[in-house]
Amino acid sequence: MGTGTALEIVGLRKRYGHRTAVDGVDIVVPEGEIFGILGPNGSGKTTTVECAYGLRRCDSGRVRLFGTLDPQAQPDRVAGLVGVQLQDSALPDRLRVGEAVHLFASLARHRVDEAAVMAEWGLTGRRDASFGSLSGGQRQRLFVALALVARPRLVFLDEMTTGLDPADRREVWDLVGRVRAEGTTVVLVTHFMDEAERLCDRVAVMVGGRVVAEDTPGGLVDRYGGGTRVRFASNDLDGDRTDGDGIDLDGIGRLPGVVEAGRVDGTVAVRGTGAFLTALGHHLHVTGHADTELSVERVGLEEAYVALLASGNHPEEAS
Ligand SMILES: Nc1ncnc2c1ncn2[C@@H]1O[C@H](COP(=O)(O)OP(=O)(O)O)[C@@H](O)[C@H]1O
Ligand SMILES: [Mg+2]
Repeated sequence: MGTGTALEIVGLRKRYGHRTAVDGVDIVVPEGEIFGILGPNGSGKTTTVECAYGLRRCDSGRVRLFGTLDPQAQPDRVAGLVGVQLQDSALPDRLRVGEAVHLFASLARHRVDEAAVMAEWGLTGRRDASFGSLSGGQRQRLFVALALVARPRLVFLDEMTTGLDPADRREVWDLVGRVRAEGTTVVLVTHFMDEAERLCDRVAVMVGGRVVAEDTPGGLVDRYGGGTRVRFASNDLDGDRTDGDGIDLDGIGRLPGVVEAGRVDGTVAVRGTGAFLTALGHHLHVTGHADTELSVERVGLEEAYVALLASGNHPEEAS
């Protein structure tokens, strides 16, 4: 695995007519990392990837691959080193799966064992199938396979699992993990927070053409509403804070590590971090609720992401 920088984007800007798609993006991805780009539709993720690969000319800013390679000036070198699966890819309907793999393998810097690639991606039985005859999920799988056929040192995957069924998604995740283990750096655009949590070392969240947050998935969860949530049944139906079931929400709210405590539809929900679980358990015990059944869940990236977008509080935007 390399120790350099696979991708460096500095001050990237791109407009389509009057519409600003990318508005000053900085992203640095070290070799060997799986880096995620998250963000709502239209936030500039695909444009960023297209500029990084050299498919689009940016208006200003700088992209470098592996330290020195300029994708706009040296597209043929990029093709040998970098794989890409674009969000809106297409192949001629009559091209066969085997022919497509052969075509992409011929771009590699070294000989590719095409049969092994077909087997690895579960495409062997479809060698002679035409692209036009494949289902949406099969096409998606083929595009991811094609992006990785030449064992690139860097690969861009733009919504690689959109349209895949859950079993196929898991298989693609495993394959991406293996490709990374072999030293390929991965830049992954995704709408799926479970995918980002599972695969990405770090993620950037884009909103309105800017990166508004960048962190590890765990770091984002901690910063934007993270921690653990405990729920338990409450028989207090009139919704007072202290009456009815005798659960003292204000007291719970003052326990160490508790971030918020409230009643929702007959349950009490308490969110906190660190050692709050122990304090909450003790509190329930001494207030006569020792046999309350608690359900405990970790607050995940999805909730943190939604909270980050809803907050409008985007600290990294200011810089
Ligand atoms: N070829 C294009 N011509 C004009 N506008 C475009 C084009 N591609 C994207 N856009 C616009 O640029 C913005 C960013 O798009 P895109 O990079 O595709 O975002 P994302 O991938 O995050 O959904 C959107 O407002 C989109 O409508
Ligand atoms: Mg896109």
